[in-house]
Amino acid sequence: MKKKIEKLLIFILCLIAATALPGCTGGKDPSAKTVGIVMPSKAIERWGRDGNYLRSIFNEEGYNVELRFSDDVLKQISDIQVLIADDVDILIVVPIDGGTLSRTLEDAIIKDIPVISYDMLVLNTDAIDCYVSFDNYRVGAMQGQYIVDSLAPDESGDTYNIELVTGDPADNNARFFFGGAIDVLQPYIDSGKFIVPSGKTTFDQTATPGWSMDLAFKNMQNTLASYYSDGKRLDAVMCSNDRMGLGVLNAVQSDYLGSNIPVITGQDGDEAALQSIMDDKLSMTVYKNVRNEADVAVSIATAILEGKPLDESLLGDLPAECVFDTESYDNGVKKVPSFLLVPEVIDKENIETLTETGSFMWDSKGKYIVPAE
Ligand code: BGC
Repeated sequence: MKKKIEKLLIFILCLIAATALPGCTGGKDPSAKTVGIVMPSKAIERWGRDGNYLRSIFNEEGYNVELRFSDDVLKQISDIQVLIADDVDILIVVPIDGGTLSRTLEDAIIKDIPVISYDMLVLNTDAIDCYVSFDNYRVGAMQGQYIVDSLAPDESGDTYNIELVTGDPADNNARFFFGGAIDVLQPYIDSGKFIVPSGKTTFDQTATPGWSMDLAFKNMQNTLASYYSDGKRLDAVMCSNDRMGLGVLNAVQSDYLGSNIPVITGQDGDEAALQSIMDDKLSMTVYKNVRNEADVAVSIATAILEGKPLDESLLGDLPAECVFDTESYDNGVKKVPSFLLVPEVIDKENIETLTETGSFMWDSKGKYIVPAE
């Protein structure tokens, strides 16, 4: 009899739990709003990190989350179609190729599903309500300025040889990174203080499709073979992110004849990049605290779903410092209201400050800074 009562009690408790807790109904709370998140490949360190963090904080805030990672554009399109067909309440999209989603997102307009373009801008569509990203131009300007500060061309009579390696032409951000960097470097190129022996000084000449580290490596090998085989010194390479920086560093280590390690820039704070900085190889990374970016996205998604206006009035309530920009990000159809977070330069001098973000810690030997999770 006692056993029967126990069984009955367990059954009733499970029934209560199943209706009250999202975890007991296959992870879904039918009364909660659902956020559809669409990301590029999780094989790229930062997107894996962003996706998982976004999911956990949206869950903490009581949302259901449908998270999809895609390796290619067609898969991303079909992911978005499925989420729209499932009537998600809001979409957060990091496009693989900013220009490929206009047709797909027309269905979001028809169904009145708001869309936040996250980190990379979705182009040629009216479907985007706003853009949450870092100040991409500033990222590039920081990379250019780091090179100027390191080589200190104003304080010497010397000239310096530099090269430029930027990102994917399909990623709108890449042009902003390059634009910020070249605006700092160009005056020195014009004055002859900085020489670019390869002659590659435009975005198109220095772009690296797919942000491919392998391609950055091969391109740098070719540059070294073609322009530095006479023993010319290479002083700096402006690389738009850590993967470009590490690809270039590998080429320098294998094919460069000089004994100096050039100043090489990066972006993202990837684990391998942080290790390389500690080993005195990669010079710096522009760190973008992706937890802050995700926290801001959650606040803005909530504001949209509560029908609040998307303007400066939100800035005070955001969990991280942002600039509100209505001019810089024209996606071809409209100037997209943008909430831009502030990036920071990390090099060996201040790398330990990353441990204060909660996202990083020293490894067990106290040698490298590694992701905390
Ligand atoms: C992001 C960078 C990232 C790059 C490659 C850019 O759009 O802003 O943080 O390094 O894509 O994934």
